[in-house]
Amino acid sequence: MAISFEPQKRVFKLDSGNATYAFLIDSGGYPSHLYFGPKLETLDLDYLHRPMIRAFSPVPEGRPAEEAPDAVLREFATHGVGDYALSSAVVRDAHGNTATDMRYRSHRILRGKPKLPGLPATFGSEEEVETLELTLADEATGVEFILAYSTFRELPVIARSVRVVNRGTATVQLEKIGSALLDFDHCEFEFLQLWGAWGRERVTERTPLRHGIQAIASNRGLSSHQHNPFFALVEPGSSERFGWVYGMALLYSGNFRAEVEVDQGNRTRAQIGINPEDFEWELTPGAEFVAPEAVLVFSDSGLGAMSRAFHDLFRNHLIRSRWRDRKRPLLINNWEGTFFDFDQEKILAIAREAAALGLEMLVLDDGWFGVRDDDRSSLGDWFVYERKLPSGIDGLAREINRLGLKFGLWFEPEMISRRSRLYEQHPDWCLHLPDRGRSEGRNQLVLDMSRPEVVDEVFRQMSELLDHANIEYIKWDANRHLTEVGSAVLPPGRQKEVFHRFVLGTYDLHERLLERYPELLIEGCSGGGGRFDAGMLYYAPQIWTSDNTDAIDRLRIQYGTSLVYPGSTMGAHVSDCRRHPENRQTPFPTRGVVAMAGTFGYELDLTRMNEEERAEIRRQVRWYHQYHHLVEQGQLYRLRSDFDTPGGYVVWAYVSPDRREVLLSAVQPRCLLNEIPRRVRLDGLAPELRYRCDELGRSFLGNTLMNAGVELPLLVHDGDSCQLYFHAEEE
Ligand code: DGJ
Repeated sequence: MAISFEPQKRVFKLDSGNATYAFLIDSGGYPSHLYFGPKLETLDLDYLHRPMIRAFSPVPEGRPAEEAPDAVLREFATHGVGDYALSSAVVRDAHGNTATDMRYRSHRILRGKPKLPGLPATFGSEEEVETLELTLADEATGVEFILAYSTFRELPVIARSVRVVNRGTATVQLEKIGSALLDFDHCEFEFLQLWGAWGRERVTERTPLRHGIQAIASNRGLSSHQHNPFFALVEPGSSERFGWVYGMALLYSGNFRAEVEVDQGNRTRAQIGINPEDFEWELTPGAEFVAPEAVLVFSDSGLGAMSRAFHDLFRNHLIRSRWRDRKRPLLINNWEGTFFDFDQEKILAIAREAAALGLEMLVLDDGWFGVRDDDRSSLGDWFVYERKLPSGIDGLAREINRLGLKFGLWFEPEMISRRSRLYEQHPDWCLHLPDRGRSEGRNQLVLDMSRPEVVDEVFRQMSELLDHANIEYIKWDANRHLTEVGSAVLPPGRQKEVFHRFVLGTYDLHERLLERYPELLIEGCSGGGGRFDAGMLYYAPQIWTSDNTDAIDRLRIQYGTSLVYPGSTMGAHVSDCRRHPENRQTPFPTRGVVAMAGTFGYELDLTRMNEEERAEIRRQVRWYHQYHHLVEQGQLYRLRSDFDTPGGYVVWAYVSPDRREVLLSAVQPRCLLNEIPRRVRLDGLAPELRYRCDELGRSFLGNTLMNAGVELPLLVHDGDSCQLYFHAEEE
């Protein structure tokens, strides 16, 4: 059993991969954290429970001082009864009071892992996964908190979620609910976060912890470009290969908050969950609320191992699309090539070129519906714009299929334009508040996805198309954040539920589409990578990483993204520098090398390519067809990540799970005059195997490649790159 319980001292020990997580139920009935780190072999761990009694730490009535809630490490923190650090849950009772004091009631250990109703969640077979359900209760209100902890046989990961059930007799309001809390008895950490903006998503930032609270959050309704629902606490000095690292990610696509507090005793408390700002949930007697799942990853060998654990977790235990292990179609998307300015002939001309060059799917982006000539109209009218596409979507799909290509289509399902038929018919279907204006973003409003009839209508319109045309892929976009978040149909006391209900409605629409079209490949998107989160991966196995397709900028964006999300999930396309605002002329081969770090495709007007460019596309396509499996299933090693220094290299390698193949890619963003060749040490190989590299014309022992390294071909211009393929020779 991966989960064991010692009844005398009430110690729980959860073994997951090469890690152990432990806590006990203390004499006050509180689950108190003991340990999360490399695997331990004993349950004799209660000595780690060391209450730190301090002045100004109140003690519960009639209890000894060591039960002061402020004195111990917690698993789930009370509110208003003496623990002054971040609380896990706040329940407002029928008297209007918010003290919330949850203590152990019971537990059960099960094989496998129950689903979370309406929400994304990791999964695994009964052989791979075990779950501990720990029931805590707040006696005064009768509210129960069922904490779920799941372990994974192969991975140093603990998945946590919470179900709140009102078993009392009065209605209560849930004001705050964290999904996972992690306490430490020290604060020797740095806080690593992924922040960003449109066009420069997931920039890494690392800052020392300080006393008080540090937080990142989204209050935008979507997980957002600005902060990703992930953070890590990393040992100072830790790096790609060394140091203890704790990563936490939330499987949620809406408002979240991740917070870390260092208290007066230099202890650290970290928590992630739904953002409590503008959140509240009414729980009538018998009702329940399920908080999104959080996943905790431990690595004792730096960020590289943390990333690989997240990648394996997401690929094997979160993505459930039928496309998970399939070769993703090599696509051409017309957006940057044409923007709104296209017609059927233009799209077919691009498709003909794509077929001739060996591509596999054409994706028709924004502008095919209603009367959409620019971004000012038609969202919500998901029927064909006949002036542009006289044969309809079904006719176009047929033509494209005839060329040997699959066909994919863009949607923005959660949005509505004022100039649309849908808005004329249902002006109250957008999010809005009485007596206030309706703010627009990119000239559009947001549908109230908390209303089932709204979700029904979008589903009806999308199904109408999917039923009649051979659409094998959809790109699901969302180009603005939420404002005036209110629903015309909920009572005043429940308006704070709308943000979360919006997310549930969006998930429900995904769920219904996948149920009806199980073969459908969904690519997530939000103005580039504004909804790149683990929640979306449950529905969409790939997500558009950024609207910034400049290969040099992409190096950094993909680096940050890869800290948490696997290459198979990162939409990455070769585009035309002539269309970029920066006008940086990155060599065409380098654009291919960078895009091949993710789900590969093109985003340009193929009819405008010259012969040299076409030849390069053919070469890239050949590489992709040969090596795509390494990006899809391989282990990522970030070997060098020097984006800024002249002469610095960015080098990464995907190593096959059996360690017999390696695809190494290197880019030099800025060259150095009079440069000498660079050597790089590989990682993750089998030391005893001999690896052949045809590009270098020789073979090397794995041990040599990992220690002495290999000299890369000399890169002499800004943005030059190379790709090397190594494969184990037969013994
Ligand atoms: C934003 C996306 O990120 C782009 O790729 C494109 O689909 C546009 N929206 C279309 O409006």
